[in-house]
Amino acid sequence: MFLEATSAISLQGSNLGLLLNSASANSFSTPSSCNLSLLSRSSSFSSLALSRKRDNGFTGYALSETNSMPLTGVVFQPFEEVKKDDYIVPIVPQVSLARQRFSEESEAAINEQINVEYNVSYVYHSMYAYFDRDNIALKGLAKFFKDSSEEERDHAQKLMEYQNIRGGRVKLHSILNPPAEFEHVEKGDALYAMELALSLEKLTNEKLLNLHSVADSNNDPQMTYFIETEFLQEQVEAIKKVADYVTQLRMVGKGHGVWHFNQMLLHEGDGAL
Ligand SMILES: [Fe+2]
Ligand SMILES: [Fe+2]
Repeated sequence: MFLEATSAISLQGSNLGLLLNSASANSFSTPSSCNLSLLSRSSSFSSLALSRKRDNGFTGYALSETNSMPLTGVVFQPFEEVKKDDYIVPIVPQVSLARQRFSEESEAAINEQINVEYNVSYVYHSMYAYFDRDNIALKGLAKFFKDSSEEERDHAQKLMEYQNIRGGRVKLHSILNPPAEFEHVEKGDALYAMELALSLEKLTNEKLLNLHSVADSNNDPQMTYFIETEFLQEQVEAIKKVADYVTQLRMVGKGHGVWHFNQMLLHEGDGAL
């Protein structure tokens, strides 16, 4: 006799068990009185008895437990445990219902990171306005910094959404006014702006790592995972990209070389930091 178990589900502490449907008994005839006992490796079930022949298959039943205590030592008693203070649903309207194991320090650190992202976004927006002027007219650089500004704002938005998911409260801080002029006598404007962007991306990375440390020290693995997956990877890639641009701008010098670099950015597609 062949017997294919299609599913076997063990529910600790329950008498429900089973469900094992025999499949291919096809060309084999099986005695109607057949009993099959399977000794389970788990302590949950001591035996499985097959009974009741049905056409060319069987229906099996888990019959008995020898030991209802789980092997892991983890006992789940929901209706007792849920009475603890930690699980009481707040009734005060000003208090988040969803908040759980989310520290005030983490909440404050997220608000500070939102402010970092907005500040960087504001600087890039100012760079966009500068390079878009008719007497500067470097449209590729203007586009690059406009896209980068929006990208940083998106980062702030992502942090705001996360703050709300965790039951924190978003508090926006003030943003400093950025410089309006980016001309530099020796470097020229494009290299000067790109070096500033590289410094800002490295600073942002430092702040993100600090945010990660806060989450870690507050034993918040979900928050560290969020920062790692949504921010840290992208941030090191942004640093590499802008470092490449600084190197290239140092190669081409000022004037005509910058115009070529600008054309490359104009046609490159999405190159935001
Ligand atoms: Fe960012
Ligand atoms: Fe960035």
